[in-house]
Amino acid sequence: EQLTHPDLSLAGKHVLITAGPTQEPMDPVRFISNHSSGKQGYAIAQAAKDMGANVTVVCGPCALADLPGVKMIHVQTAQEMFEAVKENYEKADYIIMAAAVGDYRPEVISDQKIKKSDETMQLRLVKNPDILAYVGQHKTHQILCGFAMETQDLEKNARQKLIDKNCDVLIGNNLFVEGAGFQGDTNVVCLITKESIDRLPKLTKSELGYKILKTMSKLEKEK
Ligand code: CTP
Ligand code: CA
Repeated sequence: EQLTHPDLSLAGKHVLITAGPTQEPMDPVRFISNHSSGKQGYAIAQAAKDMGANVTVVCGPCALADLPGVKMIHVQTAQEMFEAVKENYEKADYIIMAAAVGDYRPEVISDQKIKKSDETMQLRLVKNPDILAYVGQHKTHQILCGFAMETQDLEKNARQKLIDKNCDVLIGNNLFVEGAGFQGDTNVVCLITKESIDRLPKLTKSELGYKILKTMSKLEKEK
């Protein structure tokens, strides 16, 4: 079906996606990060490209190969991701924030390796900018999709994030559900809009990518 009727419904559209983890360094050899693989963000980017869009991915460090025909902007920290998004969100039509952004970073990055000494040590962290919330506050025409990774009260927490961050779509992920999470090729999510909640069956990350983009396209047309 793909071959005979390619879906090029995003031709002419600009899609901006964040993907992967961030790394927050504490010294030249160590950082704080998370288990994000980047697979979901890359799968959305591939789907958007296959639908004819002009695609930009801002990605944290992950093991995946760059996507051919996609503008890949590699960053390490949340602050670098924030800068790249600020430079690219205005011209985007659809923005999907699938990155697992570090909420905090070490207040001080030591220029030398921190040596061990006492039995305990304290590391002071400061909050990172919330990139999704920033875009939610500043967007004009863009359709905005966020993700929520939760381990409890998924639907309640995800809907609250939709409202707080002024998103059009929020994809709620429960880390503890079988077939969901960071490393695999499938996801089990709920898709929340201001009016609806769609509890989706287990989908490949690619299928979910198409589903998200189709939903965003429908919302854009209804505007
Ligand atoms: N996000 C972001 N910038 C941050 C933190 C999160 O852009 N500094 C985005 C993520 O990419 C995701 C959404 O916000 O699309 C929700 O991320 P999540 O970690 O689930 O929510 P938080 O708002 O950080 O709240 P908490 O971690 O306390 O649940
Ligand atoms: Ca967070």
